[in-house]
Amino acid sequence: MSINQKIKPASTTINANGNLEIGGCDLVELANEYSTPLYIMDEATLRGVAREYKKAFSRLENVNMMFASKALMVSAVAKILSQEGFGFDVVSSGELYTIKNANVDMENVTFNGNNKTCDELNMALDMGVGRISVDNFLELALLNEIAKSKNKIQKILLRITPGIECHTHEYIQTGHLDSKFGFDLTQIDEAVELILDEYKNLELTGLHAHIGSQIFETQVFFDEIGVILKEIKRIKDKFGIELYEINAGGGLGVTYTDEDCPPSVEKIAQVFAESIEKHCKEYNLKQPVLYIEPGRSIVATAGVTLYTIGSSKQVPNGRKYIAVDGGMADNPRPSMYGAKYFAQIANKKEDEKPQTVTVAGRFCESGDILIKDIELNDPQEGDILCVYNTGAYGYSMSSNYNRVLKPAMVLVNSSQSDIIVKRETLEQLIQNDVIPDRI
Ligand code: LLP
Repeated sequence: MSINQKIKPASTTINANGNLEIGGCDLVELANEYSTPLYIMDEATLRGVAREYKKAFSRLENVNMMFASKALMVSAVAKILSQEGFGFDVVSSGELYTIKNANVDMENVTFNGNNKTCDELNMALDMGVGRISVDNFLELALLNEIAKSKNKIQKILLRITPGIECHTHEYIQTGHLDSKFGFDLTQIDEAVELILDEYKNLELTGLHAHIGSQIFETQVFFDEIGVILKEIKRIKDKFGIELYEINAGGGLGVTYTDEDCPPSVEKIAQVFAESIEKHCKEYNLKQPVLYIEPGRSIVATAGVTLYTIGSSKQVPNGRKYIAVDGGMADNPRPSMYGAKYFAQIANKKEDEKPQTVTVAGRFCESGDILIKDIELNDPQEGDILCVYNTGAYGYSMSSNYNRVLKPAMVLVNSSQSDIIVKRETLEQLIQNDVIPDRI
């Protein structure tokens, strides 16, 4: 079974103490040592899924894996994925700065985003970012000016809106026509014409699309490649240039709960390969270089979050709420998208005294519910709760809501644990606050 089809990190087990263990580390001991809430990343699972991707996509001759940094960008993870042969999709100066700090080869980086600032484009060019995926006409003009001022020819792709709808949460669909991202198919020719005739400091290498996230269907990926290659064929016929790079974005789903059935990495690779082969034949094109940008399916399953259970409330004739020491600030996905998660008590054997409870966060909002109606094993104050599959879009979307400190992150492997993000401190929380003299 592919890693994205599993709920728990590969190394999860119950040890001799009866506690949950990941990467050879007892989760209760980790909670004691590093305190909670605590993000944990299992290195073996992370490297395992990266290798799964490499192997599955090796069926294609020319392919580049770019990890979508937005799912989780911290220096140690960047270093690990870079070691595994991944490049990076970045969307901000912050992500650029972090991967630079991890000594990533900048040639293997694509800069995406629908409103990159002048400063960010300048920074990207100074750092030697390999590709910029240009999203709109303003950016084309701006980027050409910046490249010209630096005497550079910058490789670019055009981000297009392929008009493909996938069945995922409305907020994370991106490929449908009414989307804020990319050039509409009817605007591509004008953009190509401008690049060829006027923007001499831009070199167009290909097209880029991304249709959405947490996708379980495969047909949409097949169709996406079809739309991109059809456009490449049209551009070839009209302008006499054959673009040789296609970037299909990310989107492969993961298994948060038993209800989720994503296709395996192997299956997705097969669909990409078949679509490229079919459409290249149909349109008489050379096989292009494929770029993919998986984010969630690389880091989600490797990550879990530990919380300590505190207060509880039994609503008379209603639900039982148990509150943990984190919530919507370290994982906003349940309150934002209604995302579901699976969890277990780390310090108790299964099935002792199962109880259906609702796991509430500690933040001052009724909507701060992490998991609704889950069966847990006799949850009591002081127990450690392990929420699975939190590696993607948890830390990266975390906030300091209620001025609560961001948790630490620990990397586990072969019974060793290392801090990869320190717990925030109260001093750090106010370090950018300024009280003007006049008040
Ligand atoms: N490439 C582009 C251009 C993207 O916009 C995204 C995600 C990806 C790649 C990576 O997609 P993935 O493989 O992770 O599905 N915060 C939301 C997800 C937003 C995704 C935005 N774009 C969530 O927590 O579900």
